[in-house]
Amino acid sequence: MTREFLPPTGSAGIVCEPTARPHSIDADAVVVFLPEGGVNTGAAAELDAATGGMLTRLAAAGELAGRRYECVPLLAAPGLRAGQLLVVGLGKREDLTAGVVYRAAATAARHLASRPRSRVVFVADGSWTTKQVEQAVAGAAVGMVGQDLYRAEPKRTRFGTTIWTAAPVEAVDRGRLIAEGVNLARRLVNMAPDDLYPQSFADECATVAGRTGLDIEIWDEDHLVRERCNGILAVGRGSIRPPRLVILRYRGAGRTGQGQPAAADAPHLALVGKGVTFDSGGLSLKPSDGMLTMKCDMSGAAAVLAAAATIASLRLPINLVVGIGLVENMTGPAAYKLGDVIRARSGTTIEVHNTDAEGRIVLADVLDVIRGEQPHQIIDLATLTGACVVALGQDVAGLFTNDQSCCDALAAAARAVGEPVWQLPMYPDYDEQIKSEVADIKNVGDGRWGGAITAAKFLERFVGGIPWTHVDIAGPAFSEKSRPWTDGGGTGAMVRPLVELARGGE
Ligand code: BES
Ligand code: MN
Ligand code: ZN
Repeated sequence: MTREFLPPTGSAGIVCEPTARPHSIDADAVVVFLPEGGVNTGAAAELDAATGGMLTRLAAAGELAGRRYECVPLLAAPGLRAGQLLVVGLGKREDLTAGVVYRAAATAARHLASRPRSRVVFVADGSWTTKQVEQAVAGAAVGMVGQDLYRAEPKRTRFGTTIWTAAPVEAVDRGRLIAEGVNLARRLVNMAPDDLYPQSFADECATVAGRTGLDIEIWDEDHLVRERCNGILAVGRGSIRPPRLVILRYRGAGRTGQGQPAAADAPHLALVGKGVTFDSGGLSLKPSDGMLTMKCDMSGAAAVLAAAATIASLRLPINLVVGIGLVENMTGPAAYKLGDVIRARSGTTIEVHNTDAEGRIVLADVLDVIRGEQPHQIIDLATLTGACVVALGQDVAGLFTNDQSCCDALAAAARAVGEPVWQLPMYPDYDEQIKSEVADIKNVGDGRWGGAITAAKFLERFVGGIPWTHVDIAGPAFSEKSRPWTDGGGTGAMVRPLVELARGGE
């Protein structure tokens, strides 16, 4: 059923021909990347020569400026075996980053994937870093996949074969695996909520785990009761789809041998994801407008699953644990109510002021379970608050931390792959806002101001002082409209930064 994480060779559809001459390859299209004013350098110069100076002439006429993400298709170009040469702009050479290359490749691929193509050649530029090649390969493989799960006539068709030239084979393999992760997260987010609910999401986790060699544990309701996960159980009670908690483990750094203290064997990195497969708001019901896209409320869970799968496929040398809390927030007869007091797994009591602030209640228990693994650091991903979208807009993820160096490392990884993030403050004064008259804490702040921060402050209560960064992806996880580089829908936000972080900046 799923198509991700195929073995490295065979039908995967992305191949590398490091030394092939692009103009002599039999293909539907050749894609070449063009920096501003760059027709006489690198890969563009080679194709300019092959086409008898066509690029130079078009540049002189002002038709080929190399503006960022601009696609210029040159049909039936002379000297070229392929049917067309697609020139995609990179913008100013001095501003070229791995993130720009990712989007440029995705833009070109999305453009070409509007019709079926059996063979498409991408020409990497010899001046690119390995990381830039990797991200270009990933971008091309993400851009050709659309939002077509439920369409009789797909708007995008994956290329039969993508051929990368002038690229190191290892970089092409890594880029392909990164794209499979991003596309996995996108597919899960795009699934209709009646198809993707806690148990079916857990089944997806099991499929991915089997394919990538992750260990998996799935906690059903009885197990959640035994483990006192009353937060997850409370939020899940309004739905006929019972909640689940998934734990995934990957050991890339090996075991430290018997007789070692437990801490020596502890995971280096823990990832936690909010997996609300649909958020109606519960009894604090959302209006229709705000509810329409709430199938995306499991984007954090999808991103951490996809990152773990990619980290395992890349065989990165770290130990990883992942916790995913899966619930559907509904209004059924047993639904949790305003005024309820929930004793979370950690023992902290939570007074419910708004059943639409459900993500933090679910994460309270998942964070507590993961804290027990004694990881060196925890990163949680959640479509947690509309307030974060108000603060930062739709494209920027909010960062919140109790440990600046943990947060800085994640921000650097995000920057390295071109995903925008911005840190918000965690002043102790905000803690006043989640004090409750009847319980230890309440699940909303006083009023709506600073709502992204009071939510993060709530989560902080459950990480027990372990270095932790919370990423609020309510904005970037889902895009209602299409962009030049991607069709609307799930974006796979934060998958690439998490993989980059796990590589430790090599
Ligand atoms: N899942 C929503 C947050 C959200 C909003 C995600 C928009 C993606 C796009 C979350 O569960 C929620 O409803 N939060 C409330 C919190 C409030 C009741 C304190 C919100 O943001 O309004
Ligand atoms: Mn909600
Ligand atoms: Zn939610």
